[in-house]
Amino acid sequence: MYSHIPALRPIWLPTSPRSSPATHVMGLSLDHGGHLTHGSPVNFSNKLYEFVPYTVDRELELIDYDEVRRLAMEHRPKIIVSGATAYTRTIEFDKFREIADEGDAILMADIAHIAGLVAAGEHPTPVGHAQMVTSTTHKTLRGARGGVILCDSDLARNVDRAVFPNAQGGPLQHAVAAKAVTFGEAMTEEFSAYQKQVRANAVALGDTLTGGGLRLVSGGTDNHMVLVDLRPLEVTGRQAEEALGRANIVVNRNAIPYDPKPPRVASGVRLGTAAISSRGLRENDARSVGEMILRVLNDIDNNAVQSQVRDEVLEMAPGFPIPGIDS
Ligand SMILES: Cc1ncc(COP(=O)(O)O)c(C=O)c1O
Repeated sequence: MYSHIPALRPIWLPTSPRSSPATHVMGLSLDHGGHLTHGSPVNFSNKLYEFVPYTVDRELELIDYDEVRRLAMEHRPKIIVSGATAYTRTIEFDKFREIADEGDAILMADIAHIAGLVAAGEHPTPVGHAQMVTSTTHKTLRGARGGVILCDSDLARNVDRAVFPNAQGGPLQHAVAAKAVTFGEAMTEEFSAYQKQVRANAVALGDTLTGGGLRLVSGGTDNHMVLVDLRPLEVTGRQAEEALGRANIVVNRNAIPYDPKPPRVASGVRLGTAAISSRGLRENDARSVGEMILRVLNDIDNNAVQSQVRDEVLEMAPGFPIPGIDS
């Protein structure tokens, strides 16, 4: 099935993928908050490269930098990927770089989720630490769907060639233009204020949920997300996603670190505040949303509560119109 792989091989790797320790890559395990493309067995990344996953500490639920170092020394990866899809704490790119240097690896930072916070100075930047930084443009960066790669100049030629001719045809000029607009917006004062609000709303939402008896993974948040452990209310991620969906509150079920449940069921939900902050919700409004969520979760099989909350959501939403869309 993968007989075409040599044609896809990233050109900075000198040897055949999956056949040499030189192709080892390290990434945060998917079930500890990493992204599919950071080496999940069901993703192309794990089929092209030999991935060594690192994890979060069982007690603190924070990236275990000692374990990252130990694994890096043992496996000598060519690349260490930092960055996550469900991790709510500050990523310490400087520590990652130290480890990468010690193990003679390249540090790659995938900041898809936190790029808006990074642009606004609300999360430490990987630039200056990671030799390669990748991001999407459509999460907290709030632009059109797309991606971007920054890298040190000595890698630039290889990165360029890995994009074209290796993977891509002609450039999509409309997408390039949309990215320019996105980056222009990210340089404004308004954007910085927006990102501050995103973080403040995440804290307010998290505090409300904790006050209602739930547990936040790692005990809190430094970014735009909260990862909620639902086990104190004896509710699964799947039940929560479905019940909240019926109440017009969209969340996604998510594994929590060391989750005893399979991913399709999961013990957690992941909530983000980027979209509600764009609509103008502030801390008090985020708390109201948290209270609504708690009412649904506290009575998970109660359809009457779900439809009552749905009515409240429908009443609340027009007060916070989606920017750029006339209601
Ligand atoms: C860390 C990380 N990288 C890359 C991606 C890919 O983003 P998309 O599938 O939206 O293109 C995601 C998406 O969640 C992500 O979290």
